[in-house]
Amino acid sequence: MKLLVTGAAGFIGSAFVRMLLGRQDGTSVTVLDKLTYAGNLENLEPVRDLAGFAFVRGDIANAEVVNALTADLKPDAIVHFAAESHVDRSILSPGEFFETNLRGTFTLLEAARAYKVPRFVHVSTDEVYGSLDEPLEADENFPLNTSSPYSASKAGSDLLVRSYFLTYGLQTLITRASNNYGPYHFPEKLIPLMINNALEGKELPVYGDGMQVRDWLFVEDHARGIEAVLKSGRAGEIYNIGGNCSLPNLEVVNRIIAATGASPSQIKYVQDRPGHDRRYALDSSKLTRETGWSPQVEFNDGLRITVDWYRNNRGWIDRVRSKEYLKFYDENYTRRGPAGVAA
Ligand code: NAD
Ligand code: DAU
Repeated sequence: MKLLVTGAAGFIGSAFVRMLLGRQDGTSVTVLDKLTYAGNLENLEPVRDLAGFAFVRGDIANAEVVNALTADLKPDAIVHFAAESHVDRSILSPGEFFETNLRGTFTLLEAARAYKVPRFVHVSTDEVYGSLDEPLEADENFPLNTSSPYSASKAGSDLLVRSYFLTYGLQTLITRASNNYGPYHFPEKLIPLMINNALEGKELPVYGDGMQVRDWLFVEDHARGIEAVLKSGRAGEIYNIGGNCSLPNLEVVNRIIAATGASPSQIKYVQDRPGHDRRYALDSSKLTRETGWSPQVEFNDGLRITVDWYRNNRGWIDRVRSKEYLKFYDENYTRRGPAGVAA
């Protein structure tokens, strides 16, 4: 298979490419990535010299770049990971979420249509279903109910992808995964941020009361789920990919404290995220039923692997905490009030 993979210098896309190329079975991958603050060529270092790997730096919203690459490569499929992915950044600066997640997806769809790409996998999120009361779990027919500019932009892109299937017959597939964790995760998201702050004796900033629930999925399980959809999903369909591991944030933080040897006194309750979704929960039985996929990595095992990775890769973490990261950290945390104060 010859794949065009967008956004694979990031966390999940790089795991997907490392998994596929690591097998050396003739699959070839061309990565298209803008290398934003979240894109990092070090994430692709393990596969950089393997046969079948190519990298193009470019913006998915740039039609000239996308059209030329698609025409030249003639991929068997586009697997589309590229996105602005952090909810807190979408609250501080929503414009880039519109540009990349909506215009960028539109630009790729247009190229796929023009150059007759046989398959288009759009990587989306459980956040499009919004907050769910216990004991609800969202299946793929659940209504869209977004809260943040990030989730709204992802839901919009999902609808656009669906429209290309219904209108133009483009062979699209949409995946919606729950919260990922694992190695190479940029330290702005809950788990990598808490692990690294814990290891360094810093504060652990818990939003609001810390009782928001997320379903945790090890990134390699997600990569296998996307491969299952790419290879055996039915065109036009949506597939949820959940970790089957719902935990309140405070429980996650306490397990990180236990795994790193940090002190519970490092926890600091801070002002809640505006529009914060209380609970996500996914029903991914459709993917299991149709492809046999299921998550394989237990949370405590995945967490241990992740903590070990950060302990052993202090250089990686130092390098990704650039000036840009410090500016974001200052904007999002230093100026944040205490918990209980309205956002
Ligand atoms: P990430 O932020 O780690 O990586 C995003 C990548 O996209 C980076 O390499 C970045 O340089 C690239 N990129 C951003 N804008 C671009 C543009 N305009 N043109 C080309 N490249 C661009 O994100 P991630 O966590 O790996 O998420 C990947 C995908 O999975 C996203 O679509 C996200 O919505 C989805 N998703 C993420 C999670 C999660 O828990 N992280 C869960 C479900 C779905
Ligand atoms: O559900 C899938 C989504 O998971 C993906 O689509 C997004 O790309 C990904 O960023 C993630 O979104 P969340 O907002 O759920 O992830 P985040 O790691 O930012 O936050 C997880 C929970 O932890 C959430 O309830 C907010 C809380 N939190 C987060 C941070 C960064 C804190 O309490 N403190 C923090 O410092």
